[in-house]
Amino acid sequence: MIILGIETSCDETAVALYSQSSGLIDHKVYSQAKLHARYGGVVPELASRDHISKLLPLFKALIKKNNISLEKLSAVAYTKGPGLAGALLVGAAFANSIATALKIPSIGIHHLEGHLLSPFLTSSPPQMPFIALLVSGGHTQLMQVNDIGKYVLLGETLDDAAGEAFDKSAKLLGLDYPGGAHLALLAEAGLPRYPLPRPILNDKTLNFSFSGLKTAVLMLTKKEKLTKKVKADIAASFQNAITEVLVKKTIAALQITNINNLVVAGGVGANKFLRKNLNKAARNNGFKLFYPPLEFCTDNAAMIAYAGYQRFSKNKHYQIKKTFSVRPRWKLQTISQN
Ligand code: KG4
Ligand code: ZN
Repeated sequence: MIILGIETSCDETAVALYSQSSGLIDHKVYSQAKLHARYGGVVPELASRDHISKLLPLFKALIKKNNISLEKLSAVAYTKGPGLAGALLVGAAFANSIATALKIPSIGIHHLEGHLLSPFLTSSPPQMPFIALLVSGGHTQLMQVNDIGKYVLLGETLDDAAGEAFDKSAKLLGLDYPGGAHLALLAEAGLPRYPLPRPILNDKTLNFSFSGLKTAVLMLTKKEKLTKKVKADIAASFQNAITEVLVKKTIAALQITNINNLVVAGGVGANKFLRKNLNKAARNNGFKLFYPPLEFCTDNAAMIAYAGYQRFSKNKHYQIKKTFSVRPRWKLQTISQN
């Protein structure tokens, strides 16, 4: 059984092949980051158009490189949501066209389920149940994963996502989009000497709020003379503040649920300072940590193909669809188990 995975929810065009017998065969990601950089953020219409021009060549290259004949495909999994409506539609239309032509099922996957299951693409996956800290450009959630399709939302951001806060703060410091990784690099040379807020750190819920932190960075950038050193110090102060909140709430989630496996997924999960602090917390609090490899932390289709494989294995009765839709806003805790 080979599942083709397609991911186009935001600014990465990605394709992957996952095999029941040999695991991930291969995957390819094309990032649109350069296209959007000059606008300081993702431009949805440009994203959709770029997916249209890149998806077919990427798919053809993947199939050719791995010498896979199309008849070998058992199903096509694609990101159905959440994400940018136009971008999602490109992937959905492409996936459903291939599925219709080959008379195989298409499976609409929740993007965050893909992120949650990405550690299973490694040779030492976590045991269920586990807590997932999902920190991406669009989402910040603490999720209890009991089984495939059984997800309990423990807490989430009330406003900006962690990645969004990184990107907005980076922009205020004059860094290119997407600024998360650039800000992290700058922070390495800085001192965390500014007392930035740790929003709702002690509010007893597992929710987050990062828009106030970003506003505090805005105020600082207006007040200070922005030398290279000052920018590095602001970056370090921001990274310290956001990390402290993420780590503290994550430890609380593990303690409340009495679960001792933690998965960190999503683009911000690549942040070295966050990892260092989570590693320290794991040693002090006795929990096990699982990070997907960096290439599976950020958006990719391997995780979508894997989620599709899991769903298809559980339920072979996926229908060959005549119509399809996407769900730009879709809550993970509402998805079905099959
Ligand atoms: O999961 P992802 O690739 O896409 C979404 O689904 O959003 O996450 C992208 C986010 C961006 O906000 C990016 O700035 C952030 O992850 N990011 C980082 C780092 N690498 C990527 N944030 C902080 N430190 C990093 N090293
Ligand atoms: Zn993502």
